[in-house]
Amino acid sequence: MEKLRFQNPVITQQEVAAALDAACRQIQHNLPAFTHTCQNHSSVNNIYPACENNQWTCGFWPGEVWLAYEHTGEESFKQCALTLVESFLNRIEQKIEVDHHDMGFLYSPSCVAAYKLTGSENGKKAAILAADQLISRFQEKGAFIQAWGALGAPENYRYIIDCLLNLPLLYWATEVTKDKKYAQIAHKHITTCLKNSIRADGSTYHTFFMDSQTGMPSHGATCQGYKDDSFWARGQAWGVYGTAISYCYTKNPAYLDAFRRTVAFYLTRLPQDLVPYWDMIFTTGSDEPRDSSSASIVACGMLEAAKYMEEDEAEYYTTLARQMMKSVVDNYAAKDIKLGGGLVLHGTYSKKSPYNTCTPEGVDECVSWGDYFYMEALTRLSKNWEMYW
Ligand code: GLY
Repeated sequence: MEKLRFQNPVITQQEVAAALDAACRQIQHNLPAFTHTCQNHSSVNNIYPACENNQWTCGFWPGEVWLAYEHTGEESFKQCALTLVESFLNRIEQKIEVDHHDMGFLYSPSCVAAYKLTGSENGKKAAILAADQLISRFQEKGAFIQAWGALGAPENYRYIIDCLLNLPLLYWATEVTKDKKYAQIAHKHITTCLKNSIRADGSTYHTFFMDSQTGMPSHGATCQGYKDDSFWARGQAWGVYGTAISYCYTKNPAYLDAFRRTVAFYLTRLPQDLVPYWDMIFTTGSDEPRDSSSASIVACGMLEAAKYMEEDEAEYYTTLARQMMKSVVDNYAAKDIKLGGGLVLHGTYSKKSPYNTCTPEGVDECVSWGDYFYMEALTRLSKNWEMYW
């Protein structure tokens, strides 16, 4: 496989530290606004509205707060994140908006993090309940975790590539409970996903339908990408990072191979500043919006995968991650501290196209996971980090 290289500058350790310091100042400024409420999935004019703990994205803000706690040691971050853990325990106990697969996105950066960093028993309890909820969506026929909608409904008999980031909750649940059922379901799901969702050129389908009668693969489609056969940037990014994390937990070489293929495709579609357009069907010169969050997600994936590689290959991916984060810090990070302000500009949640089925939201805005993965990538560059995933 040809390895693409770029001439862009890499971020230095000093720049990493300065970017983390600045991000922590913005997070500190936002603590009063988002301790007893959550942060909306995306900003409006780069300011986040508050929301109830009822979106799939609510875990990212507490994840940022935990990362700020790790960077600074400031007690106020810890107290805020522990308050949020109570809300997450209540959410899963009361089953508030949990009839979907996004349990990992919700519970890893909030509650698994709380357990790992402070031994929080409520964090552990909530995250195990969330893992139980996630495996309740497993479909034997087709061997996959159904993403959305009524279980078994033919029009929703599908999974999406994003689910690779929900699987770490299952590996973790097996580690802490010693019950193999969680990791076994993760293994079945990723096997189905890698077989169907990665195209021959290493690009990926966002969603993939299975036949509800036979369990056989049916067809790939998009929801948030431009069209069914295009290259939704964040789906590609979830593929890159999700395969790297699954490799971390299992050491299955097929996952590292999938990582290499998805990242190789991603690199072929980047504009000069290494931050992709929201769908990578668009490239250099397009006036379509970017998705800055994909750059940070891919950087996290490369830094995770690099841990398991020989020196040359590890150096290759680490350099790419440093080049990407240099661009995100210099060109996309918010410069002024504002109440409710996000950390990274120019993310895209869901952009409507003539061919896709999404609700338009958060176009060219800060997005909650964009801020979280920005912090995570910088944290990974700053020290040997134990991941929340
Ligand atoms: N998981 C949905 C998204 O990435 O927008």
